[in-house]
Amino acid sequence: MHQQDTSTEILTQAILRYAVERIRMDPPTLDGPKPEATLRAMVGKTINQEGLGGLEALRIFTDVLAPACISVDHPRFLSFVPAAPTEAATLFDLVVGASSICGTSWLEAAGAVFAENEALRWLADLAGFPSTAGGVFVSGGTAGNLSALVSARGRWRARQTDTTTKGLIITSEGAHASVGQAAYVMDADILAVPCEGPMQGQDLERYVLGLPASDRQRIFAVVATSGTTNLGFIDDLSGIADTCQSLGFWFHVDGAYGAAGLAAPSIRTLFSGIERADSFIVDPHKWLFAPFDCCALIYRDPEHARAAHRQHGDYLEVLYDGIWNPSDYAHHLSRRARGLPFWFSLATHGTDAYTKAVEKTLELAQSAAKLIEAADHCQLLLPAHLSIVIFKRCGWQTADYKAWSDALLAAGTGFVMPTKFKKETVLRLCIVNPNTTERDIQIILDSLL
Ligand SMILES: Cc1ncc(COP(=O)(O)O)c(C=O)c1O
Repeated sequence: MHQQDTSTEILTQAILRYAVERIRMDPPTLDGPKPEATLRAMVGKTINQEGLGGLEALRIFTDVLAPACISVDHPRFLSFVPAAPTEAATLFDLVVGASSICGTSWLEAAGAVFAENEALRWLADLAGFPSTAGGVFVSGGTAGNLSALVSARGRWRARQTDTTTKGLIITSEGAHASVGQAAYVMDADILAVPCEGPMQGQDLERYVLGLPASDRQRIFAVVATSGTTNLGFIDDLSGIADTCQSLGFWFHVDGAYGAAGLAAPSIRTLFSGIERADSFIVDPHKWLFAPFDCCALIYRDPEHARAAHRQHGDYLEVLYDGIWNPSDYAHHLSRRARGLPFWFSLATHGTDAYTKAVEKTLELAQSAAKLIEAADHCQLLLPAHLSIVIFKRCGWQTADYKAWSDALLAAGTGFVMPTKFKKETVLRLCIVNPNTTERDIQIILDSLL
């Protein structure tokens, strides 16, 4: 299993050929899920005592399993938040896998951590964070929000005399589900400020001041969103920063999707106030063209994170000699150096290319809104926010949307799932792929006729 021999060489060539062909597909086939029973009937039992051999396992993946996975980088994958990794980033992901790097500590992975920190620095600079800021790449926004909130609670707890009080997180109604999930995992309480649109600083302040003093004292973090998942709203970060500053709350910004917009000068002012946050996240695997899984988590003062997250054990103390260990800044220890593909692509193309690519998707979202407005059978429900467009097909009910969406995917045309807006089933496009064109949007709209 661990030898380099002729069969390994043959397998190497076959795997590289597959990977290169897949990366070259432009666009890839969309593909889609199949029932488990179908997959079982197609592949039988894939793991047995003797092994199938690499070429047969690869054939099963190529012929059966890969086509049962939707290609997130397809230009008409417009559901949820898609991904559109650059060729350089995807290729370098192969290198990361081949290099057996344990990205836990500087001792084990100084070169990788150096490069990851360069990429984090670019993001910190975009946000206007101080030179002392720092962080780590984690698996996704869910892990990033959780780790930031654990750090926030650590700071709050350290200031409490009563260490049994349950902490409280304040967020907005538009916050991503992962914030509620973090509260659940941490056994913290969570309250959402009611708001129709983006959360405003004044609404937050009024809400918090309206809470009983005993609850106010339990607040250890406010989570704002810079780009809500459903609608692309950016909360009033400046006003929220004012409230957090005056009341002494940790201010976390969930920019998992939207903070990529920091790279776009045309909308940079929308993020005013993020520079005053205690922490923020942005997922390069969403709108910054990195492969899964990659979330940048950045702290204004990383010391708070280290106090909350560093693990201790006789076998670990050798790592802690004052240098930068990524494992100290989130809920993890062993980690893939998952920031490297993002770093490699940034180093290869330069940051201007990122600005251009994000701007292009923003322009397309505006064009998509215009195309929808011009289509008699559709109704635009909101102007495009960031790269999200919400609209409805006139006269349709929930079942119509589902049937259409299923058929669109089954035909390999596109992947557009319905969502809810004001309790009504509607459609939502989330554009993060610079290869998506007006023609792609028109194809989707025509299919709704
Ligand atoms: C605003 C926001 N926060 C958090 C998340 C969770 O990110 P992940 O799926 O990478 O865990 C998402 C995912 O879409 C998101 O849009």
